[in-house]
Amino acid sequence: MKSKFTWGISSASYQIEGHDESIQSIWDDFAKQEGKTYLHQDGSLACDHVRHFKSDIQLIQELGVDAYRLSLSWPRIQPQQDVFSDTGFAFYRELLSECRRVGLKTTVTLYHWDLPLWLYKKNGGWIARETVHFFADYAKKVFAELDDLVDHWTTLNEPFCSGYLGYEVGYHAPGHQNHQEYLQANHHLLLAHGMVTQYYKSLFDKPISIVLNLSPVSSSMLQEEDRLAIDMWDMLNNRVYLDPLLKGSYPSLYQTHFTKHGFSFDFIQPGDMETIQTPFDQLGVNYYSHAVVKYDSDNFFGFTYEQTTHPKTSMDWDVVPDQLHQLIDRLRKDYKNIPIFIAENGAAYEDQLINNEVNDQSRVNYIASHIQVIQSLSETHNVVGYYVWTLMDNYEWTFGYSKRFGLIHVDFDTLTRTPKNSYKFYQEFLSQQKTDTI
Ligand code: GCO
Repeated sequence: MKSKFTWGISSASYQIEGHDESIQSIWDDFAKQEGKTYLHQDGSLACDHVRHFKSDIQLIQELGVDAYRLSLSWPRIQPQQDVFSDTGFAFYRELLSECRRVGLKTTVTLYHWDLPLWLYKKNGGWIARETVHFFADYAKKVFAELDDLVDHWTTLNEPFCSGYLGYEVGYHAPGHQNHQEYLQANHHLLLAHGMVTQYYKSLFDKPISIVLNLSPVSSSMLQEEDRLAIDMWDMLNNRVYLDPLLKGSYPSLYQTHFTKHGFSFDFIQPGDMETIQTPFDQLGVNYYSHAVVKYDSDNFFGFTYEQTTHPKTSMDWDVVPDQLHQLIDRLRKDYKNIPIFIAENGAAYEDQLINNEVNDQSRVNYIASHIQVIQSLSETHNVVGYYVWTLMDNYEWTFGYSKRFGLIHVDFDTLTRTPKNSYKFYQEFLSQQKTDTI
C-alpha cells in the first residue's frame, strides 16, 4: 500500500452528539411526526458525545487510525438565522484541537443532513435557492473559524439522501413526497457544493471533497424493461450526482423522464452547471451494498427490488464485497481519474454484549473482506483512503437506536462504551500496516 494512504473511522454530528432544545434540526421535528422514526426516537441525547468527546477521541487514538471523519452540526453553529454561536464554535475548536493533540488528522463534513429547523420553517429547506446562499454563508464562517484545525473538508454527505429520501420518497427528513421539489432539492444541493468549493479554493488550500453513496445495480431478469429499470435506478442513485459534478450535465434520462411527466427544470439558472462542475480534490464514496432490481409498471420510476440469496446484514443489505471492485472499476472507466476515498463502509448486526464483550465476527468478516478489495486496487485505481462506518453505535436515522453499526458498543441507558471485537480487529490490522510501512 502507498504510505500516504489514509485509514480512518467515520461519524456524524446528529447521530452522536446530543443537543438541547436551542439546537433544532429537521430531524428533531421529523421524529416527532407519527410513524417516521422507530419509537419516535431522535438524536437529542444520542451518545452524548458533547460531554464524552475527550474519552471518545482517546478511543479513536487507541484504535490507531490516521484520520477521524466527523461532521459539524449546522444548527449548533447557527441556531437562529442571525446567530452564529460562539459556544458552537468553541465546542468544535476544542474537539478538533483535541484531535490535533493526540495526532489525529480530521476530515470534516459541513453537512450531514441536520438542516437547521429555522431554515426549513422559513423556506422549505433545499427546495429553495435561498438555502444555497444560507449554506454558503454558514460555510464561510466555518472556514474562517476552523480551517486551521482541519486537514480535509467535505461539503455534503450523500446528497441522494437529502434530495431523494428527503423530498421524493419522504423516507428521511423533512419527509416530503413531491417530484418537483425533489428536482429542485437535488439541484440546490449540488449548487451549494459547487459554490462553497469555488469559494474555498479561492482562499484556502486543504483538500476539499464531496461524499456520494454509490452502488452497482443489476437484474436477474432479461427483458428490455428490466434493462430500463437498471438504467433508471443507476441514474437516480449514481449518475444524477456523478454526471453534473464530473461532466457538467444531468443525465438525459433524468431530463426526459421528468419532462415527459410535466415537471420543469426552469429553476436551473445560467452558470449553475459550471458552478456545480467546479473541480474538487477527492471524491468520497460510501459503499455498503448493491441493488438488484426488475421492471415494475406500477412504480413511477419503473423498478422494484428483487430478493436475493446473498448473506445479509441486519439492515437486510446484501454483503457483496466484490461489487465494490465493480463500482471502482466503473468509476475509473466512466469518469475522470480524481482520487477516491471510501468515506464509509460497515455493517449493522444484532450484537450481544456478554461479559463485557461483543463477539461480532460477522462485522469483522464484513470489514476484512472490503479492506481486502481496497488493498487489491488502491494503487491501480487511485484509491487514497478508507474509513469504517462507524466509531460507535449511534442514532441510525429512521431506525433510531435499533441498528448497531459501531466498532464500539454503546449502552444507551448508561452511555457506557465497550469496544467490540471488530474494534480489536481493526486495531490489530492498523498496527500491522504501520509495521509494514516502516
Ligand atoms: C450515510 C450515513 C450514515 C448512516 C450509514 C448507515 O452516509 O448513509 O453517513 O449516517 O448511518 O450509512 O446507514
